[in-house]
Amino acid sequence: MTDKVEFQDRMLSLGLARVAEQAALASAEWVGRGQEKAADQAAVNAMRTQLNMLDIAGVVVIGEGERDEAPMLYIGEEVGTGHGPSVDIALDPLEGTTLTAKDMPNALTVIAMGPRGSMLHAPDTYMEKLAIGPGYPEGVVSLDMSPAERVAALAAAQGCKASDITVCILERPRHEAMIAEVRGTGASIRLITDGDVAGVMHCAEPDKTGIDMYMGTGGAPEGVLAAAALKCMGGQILGRLVFRNDDEKARATRAGITDFDRVYTRDEMVTQDVIFAATGVTGGSLLPGIRREPGWVTCTTLLMRSKTGSVRRMEYRTPVL
Ligand code: FBP
Repeated sequence: MTDKVEFQDRMLSLGLARVAEQAALASAEWVGRGQEKAADQAAVNAMRTQLNMLDIAGVVVIGEGERDEAPMLYIGEEVGTGHGPSVDIALDPLEGTTLTAKDMPNALTVIAMGPRGSMLHAPDTYMEKLAIGPGYPEGVVSLDMSPAERVAALAAAQGCKASDITVCILERPRHEAMIAEVRGTGASIRLITDGDVAGVMHCAEPDKTGIDMYMGTGGAPEGVLAAAALKCMGGQILGRLVFRNDDEKARATRAGITDFDRVYTRDEMVTQDVIFAATGVTGGSLLPGIRREPGWVTCTTLLMRSKTGSVRRMEYRTPVL
């Protein structure tokens, strides 16, 4: 006999959608207003208020940063009413603060939840990432391959030419050599200025998004969120932490990481079934953004469960009070 409450993923999923929706509605006030911090703070406040209404004993494992640098939704913060299943929560209340401030595509509010111990406690460092969609054998591409080799391997697996492959990459100076090498293969590149959770998720729906592969270095917390998304949608992601200094290594050590060179697969970053919700703030190829009409505001949320592979796109319309 145990008092342990099972992770009620089916029951909790609508609650999770509400959390993502309210964060998006709060940050929508700041779309195009050039104020990243205000947009993020609005999303953080709303997400925290909503999370604390859920009957869970939640702990934030991927959050806004460590306790001394984030007043809310910091790593280790306990959320929920305390009554209900013990869960891990990974969140990015506003993934794409600059996209929001500049009214550019694919800014999302993102949250994933799983049983306690289900998600890698990734430190707030960078992570080298490589992702592809569903339907390929394990290991068809790897982080040890060069960018050109990855394109060739994926084209061979698809039975197409390298020039039929489209790769998504964050536009950063650190990726200049990678971009040049991928271009050298004849593959096409969709450059994004921010938002690599969405970048990775694009790989799961290549027919809709036109993206076959994501590669490059971005935030490690975003890597775990992207792994949670692909666990629900299908697809592979590999991640290896990147450290720029000793302080970042110390953060990893505090997070319980001992092997700094380890390559994590999707199922090593997210080890059990999870639920995932993302709401569009600005419209893009993944989700529409917030829409307004006189007296009403509408948003769309992607709500997914890895246990069943169910993917819902839910529209929420509410009166403007
Ligand atoms: P924010 O949600 O903090 O705006 O992050 C946006 C983002 O583009 C992530 O998607 C990405 O992982 C990271 O920043 C990249 O970091 P950097 O801007 O330092 O290259």
